[in-house]
Amino acid sequence: LPIGVLLSGSGTNLQALIDAIDAGTLNAEIKLVVGSRPSAFGLKRAEAAGIQTLTLSKEIYADPIQADEVIAHELLAAGCEYVVMAGYMRMVHAPLLATFPNRVINIHPALLPSFQGAHGIQDAFDRGVKVTGVTVHIANAVYDMGPIIAQRALVVEEDWDVDTLEEHIHAIEHVLYPEVMQMLADGRVHVRENLTVEVRSLA
Ligand code: GRF
Repeated sequence: LPIGVLLSGSGTNLQALIDAIDAGTLNAEIKLVVGSRPSAFGLKRAEAAGIQTLTLSKEIYADPIQADEVIAHELLAAGCEYVVMAGYMRMVHAPLLATFPNRVINIHPALLPSFQGAHGIQDAFDRGVKVTGVTVHIANAVYDMGPIIAQRALVVEEDWDVDTLEEHIHAIEHVLYPEVMQMLADGRVHVRENLTVEVRSLA
């Protein structure tokens, strides 16, 4: 499965995908990594793995629609079939979504539709939930509300602080994201008309 990855930060989820590909548990190839900031450490991880990278200038990002046109064009040119958001701190817009319909995937560090937004771990912790988790979903025009492909729950233990919770959330992400990408590679993910997802078993 040829994929492109969008990121803004440390890129531990990118690393998990790279490692799963190297280990042979994910049948995919990362064709391009797009960083929304030149300083994103994830770009270094991509370079270390020999993956082509792209960073856009602030001027281009000043117009989000134009930026997503450029990104969509570059992802297509690199041969990507799926687009994986891995800590990408920007919204994706119509040009990208229309170029990759139902093929832009996001990971969220909470059980959607709870705790949407950029601080899912902190917000869940502050609310005192006893169970939280990770969601992998298809990105569409409604932020954090696209079809849910997979979720994994985590019981919050009494003696955890927010950092402990964060470590556990990330550990789940690094297992779940490669697993979901392999489901997509196997063609098991079917979006129903009502925007729920059926994950079919392997034929
Ligand atoms: C992850 O927690 C992801 O759920 C959220 O941003 C974080 C990215 O971490 N959307 P990393 O850059 O992959 O380390």
